[in-house]
Amino acid sequence: MILVTGGAGFIGSNFVLDWLAGGGEPVVNLDKLTYAGNLENLAPLSGDPRHVFVRGDIGDRELVAGLLTNHRIRAIVHFAAESHVDRSIHGPEDFIETNIVGTFRLLEAARAYWSALPAAERDAFRFLHVSTDEVYGSLAPDDPPFAETNQYQPNSPYSASKAASDHLVRGYHHTYGLPVVTTNCSNNYGPLQFPEKLIPLVIANALAGKPLPIYGDGRQIRDWLYVGDHCSAIRRALAAGRLGEVYNIGGASEQANIDVVHTLCRILDEERPRADGKPYTEQITYVKDRPGHDRRYAIDARKITGELGWTPAETFETGIRRTVRWYLDHQPWVANVTSGAYRDWIAKHYAG
Ligand code: NAD
Ligand code: DAU
Repeated sequence: MILVTGGAGFIGSNFVLDWLAGGGEPVVNLDKLTYAGNLENLAPLSGDPRHVFVRGDIGDRELVAGLLTNHRIRAIVHFAAESHVDRSIHGPEDFIETNIVGTFRLLEAARAYWSALPAAERDAFRFLHVSTDEVYGSLAPDDPPFAETNQYQPNSPYSASKAASDHLVRGYHHTYGLPVVTTNCSNNYGPLQFPEKLIPLVIANALAGKPLPIYGDGRQIRDWLYVGDHCSAIRRALAAGRLGEVYNIGGASEQANIDVVHTLCRILDEERPRADGKPYTEQITYVKDRPGHDRRYAIDARKITGELGWTPAETFETGIRRTVRWYLDHQPWVANVTSGAYRDWIAKHYAG
């Protein structure tokens, strides 16, 4: 079996669903079910014996040790994290606790378990650490995209906590020989993303007749990747990634935020026109910028493409239309996750 952490969140649940659909080994899914974790994401697996869900914290040493031993885990795919930059600015402590301390405790449990395995199983064991391009900081307009050799320059409490976790993972390989592979991916979008992040937030607000908030001048650039393509890259890195190596993952799809929002408005105009016939762009509203806002991310994915043969299947145009259609077809899912806690966050963060 494999142990997936954070498998009730956006990317983790997409990964578990794709993994099992593709005939992968059974999964133990360890998730704390924070505001971002949602069991409804895993509803298609209800009653499926290949999926064992455990509600718990990656920082719970005894729980993790028991799961590793009792299920004879052969690989850990570590998604669990606090993942939202804006929340890390309002309250960084949970980010330190889960992303740094939690990853440290998970590594310790993995090391103890792995060290005691018989030789063949020890050789086959993998710890795949899922990380972000934000650890590299922010690019100037003419800078080349982030390569694996770029210096770490994290600029937010979120990216700093992820950078710290990457360093711990690296240290556990270098010092103890733990068989790790790290992936650093760009911005994901697709089904099951919590509507605090730009793309699902804009779709939800557009349909609800609410403002579409653009931070600052809206010219910040992100390199968007469809979530299914991130999952396929992780599967490749898990299967064939070289131990101790880092692989950057991205869609070669740099877009300014305002252009992403215009694209979403255009697709919504076609797929679900406003009752008054006006374009959704009328709802665009410029708001105060995010403090410390990184200006540009872009990924050089030549290493994973060259070494592991990975390429994305979706372009931004195909992936974004698929995504809009998914949200239009899953309005009850959106209604369920935008609970009281979600409304409190929106009221606090976008106040004024
Ligand atoms: P998410 O916020 O949607 O999901 C995180 C999941 O982790 C949730 O289900 C949550 O309940 C769980 N979790 C949080 N703390 C936990 C703890 N202490 N113990 C167990 N479970 C816990 O995040 P996401 O967008 O799916 O991101 C997943 C991973 O991918 C993160 O490590 C993130 O840094 C990384 N990543 C995300 C993106 C992106 O664009 N979303 C891009 C690159 C990398
Ligand atoms: O680059 C990978 C990272 O991408 C991941 O590590 C993070 O977990 C993930 O959340 C994402 O971080 P961003 O901060 O880039 O994503 P977010 O969707 O929050 O914002 C995308 C861009 O849109 C960013 O420049 C901020 C801007 N934005 C966001 C929101 C929520 C707005 O202009 N308005 C908004 O209301």
